[in-house]
Amino acid sequence: MTRRVAILISGSGSNMVKLVESMTGDHPARPCVVLANSADAKGLERARERGVPTEVVDHRPFKGDRAAFEAALQSTLMAYQPDLICLAGFMRVLTEGFVSRWRGRMLNIHPSLLPKYRGLHTHARALDAGETEHGCTVHEVTPELDDGPILGQARVPVLTGDTPETLAARVLEEEHRLYPAMLRQFVLRDTPSVQTG
Ligand code: GRF
Repeated sequence: MTRRVAILISGSGSNMVKLVESMTGDHPARPCVVLANSADAKGLERARERGVPTEVVDHRPFKGDRAAFEAALQSTLMAYQPDLICLAGFMRVLTEGFVSRWRGRMLNIHPSLLPKYRGLHTHARALDAGETEHGCTVHEVTPELDDGPILGQARVPVLTGDTPETLAARVLEEEHRLYPAMLRQFVLRDTPSVQTG
């Protein structure tokens, strides 16, 4: 059975594009919707160009009422009947209620080698700490921020003269490889019948 994947974004959506482009041919999943929490998210247009339906659930009118925002998120998503959610640069913290509902069915990519550097500004923090390597992690989402079972990581060297921007660009290239690979592996693990035909 082909799995339906909802991808949640807030920004440029470069990871989303890589996920969408990976879900072709014998891939056991297909994108069903790309949802952003702002109509300004540049990734929306990139999703539309690739024939993926898009939705916006703007968090701002909810004025900090996370439960109400997530209720709107949930009902918008359910119209597309997703089996899985991929967070791809989605910059809203999700509450335990929403996360529990999707437990075991929601993945995230984080730009650090978790458990190091949960939260924001990971590249600057890695540089400040004098790390010699850095990277990214794909993990299942649990209520704790940037926590949950790790599905895979990719490492990059920190080079002399790196700035947060140069390091971020090097990590992003790895994100683009890692996330599609981990999604495919996750879906195949979840639906072994797909693997054996
Ligand atoms: C990525 O680095 C992701 O790991 C982080 O935000 C960035 C999103 O980039 N959480 P994009 O929107 O996928 O281009």
